[in-house]
Amino acid sequence: MKVTVVGAGAVGASCAEYIAIKNFASEVVLVDIKEGFAEGKAMDLMQTASLNGFDTKITGTTGDYGKTAGSDICVITSGIARKPGMSRDELLGINAGIVKTVAASLVEQSPNTIIIVVSNPMDTMTYLVHKATGLPKNRIIGMGGALDSARFKYRLAEALEAPISDVDGMVIGGHSDKGMVPLTRLATRNSVPVSEFLSEERLEQVKQDTKVGGATLTGLLGTSAWYAPGAAVSGMVQAIACDTKKIFPCSALLEGEYGLSGLCIGVPAVLGKNGIEKIVEINLSTEEKEALTSSAEAVKNNNAALTF
Ligand code: NAI
Repeated sequence: MKVTVVGAGAVGASCAEYIAIKNFASEVVLVDIKEGFAEGKAMDLMQTASLNGFDTKITGTTGDYGKTAGSDICVITSGIARKPGMSRDELLGINAGIVKTVAASLVEQSPNTIIIVVSNPMDTMTYLVHKATGLPKNRIIGMGGALDSARFKYRLAEALEAPISDVDGMVIGGHSDKGMVPLTRLATRNSVPVSEFLSEERLEQVKQDTKVGGATLTGLLGTSAWYAPGAAVSGMVQAIACDTKKIFPCSALLEGEYGLSGLCIGVPAVLGKNGIEKIVEINLSTEEKEALTSSAEAVKNNNAALTF
């Protein structure tokens, strides 16, 4: 199993590290545009192998896509990350050019690959990769909901004063502060609805804290987060590589599901060896449906700025 990660920055390197530590891939190739950067990150990570007990071979290259040939899964994290006070949408102009070029180089070397898009604004970048590569829709997947759901569970566990492993919850919709739809109605603690434990006001607070989860970290760190994004991507890569059929909320191309089409947005999906193997349609309340529809409108507005 060969995995390429383009962008050896904060998220790309974290993702490569988690993939290696889980020890399911034979090879991870890091690619960056900065001279020597991917090679350096790869060497540093390889020097953790004997300490962390993994056999995955990590290599790096400055833009030589020949080294990525035959990748089963490619992850795109290349581009600019937001700074405090910025929205993800402000990255569109610069990241669109980078993502489009990178996707073309990856597909040229690995025509059968599955691509996971991370660069922001992620739903729009995922749509761009669909349009620019023409790959089958199951093979292009955006990562956002897996991270947002992890942040939702963190906030729920905090409010419930419960262990995170006892908490379940999911965030669908666009990967943006306004567009996220945390499904508080369906969140559970040991299968019991969280509304049994938390007041409506507290749940609303959890929802708001989840939506600004990325912005809160950007304010603290001065740049966007990397551990949880890297872990979220590695979880999706593992589900595909090991054909686990786990459900992740992913940005997927919709063709009528949830009454939406012609965009990529976060919905629950079964991930396995074919990428997105099934989009799961859950019964949403009227309020949740409205929130998803308005999130989709915002994503479509962003998509209108793209050229293919
Ligand atoms: P970073 O700045 O640490 O790393 C980005 C890397 O991309 C840099 O090393 C840069 O040299 C490289 N790069 C730029 N152009 C390139 C090209 N043409 N080819 C190859 N490499 C190139 O940024 P970070 O924090 O790793 O974030 C990466 C992207 O992921 C950003 O767009 C950020 O907004 C996004 N992100 C998305 C998340 C999600 O949930 N979808 C979560 C966190 C970040």
